[in-house]
Amino acid sequence: MPLDISPACPERPDFVAEVSGVDLSRPIAPSVAAEIEAGMDRFAVLVFRDQRLDDDRQLEFSRHFGPLEQATGDIAQGDQRRLRMELNDISNLDKDNAILARDDRRRLFALGNLLWHSDSSFKATPAKYSLLSARIIPDRGGNTEFADMRAAWDTLDADTQALVRDMVCDHSQVFSRAVLGMTDFTAEERRKWAPVPQRLVRRHAGSGRLSLFLSSHAGTIHGWPVPEALALLRDLTEHATQRERVHAHEWRANDLVMWDNRATMHRARRYPADQVRDMRRTTVADSAPTLQQAA
Ligand code: OGA
Ligand code: MN
Repeated sequence: MPLDISPACPERPDFVAEVSGVDLSRPIAPSVAAEIEAGMDRFAVLVFRDQRLDDDRQLEFSRHFGPLEQATGDIAQGDQRRLRMELNDISNLDKDNAILARDDRRRLFALGNLLWHSDSSFKATPAKYSLLSARIIPDRGGNTEFADMRAAWDTLDADTQALVRDMVCDHSQVFSRAVLGMTDFTAEERRKWAPVPQRLVRRHAGSGRLSLFLSSHAGTIHGWPVPEALALLRDLTEHATQRERVHAHEWRANDLVMWDNRATMHRARRYPADQVRDMRRTTVADSAPTLQQAA
């Protein structure tokens, strides 16, 4: 069966597509990877159903799209980790596959995913693609929502476009967790997650489209007083995440969803705390810090 990439959401025909005719549990040809990459340039979120992946297969597929990030943004490091460093652990499990206690610091930290964000915007070179594989899902809740940040830019009024066009924000995981009242970071964590600058408006290398590069990790705008900066970032985020620019993905086990962090934000939705949700993310690094990319 030939590869097919078709819009998944009639209201947003250039945003989310479903990919069929490919079995990711087997090696794919470079030409197929190139078709998928072209699909990512046209859309920004691709959904692959019924893909029974193990970690090795997920890694092998992901590497077609560039060098992978290490999961240095996860709070569990060293012998606390359940997964190897090329996989972000997007679960509520400890390394023995037991559900984390309600007040476990690792679980609380992971609740940062409930806030709108772009993956690794807190790293000097942020993420290009994220590939999230659903191994075990809860029986309700736990959707992932995606916001189209190209549409967010396109629909901004001209005055606001001019205001934000050259803005630079600082991003840190410490900023996003502060939004949730989590402030108990060690000196080492603060050093590791020191703020990094990112352009607020960026041009997508594959499509040429501009987008708003927002994220809950953004905590300042260079040259602006902090309260005014946070109020503007909140206002832009509200604009970007209006229902008409958002798609909710309802997970089935063995879905793989791939999104472009340069053109989208996403967030997790709540699910029952006593149910297992085992998702694993591979992350393709972007080419350079956003300030070094063409504006
Ligand atoms: C992620 C993420 C959202 C979710 O994997 O980067 O934010 O629904 N996931 O788990
Ligand atoms: Mn994320």
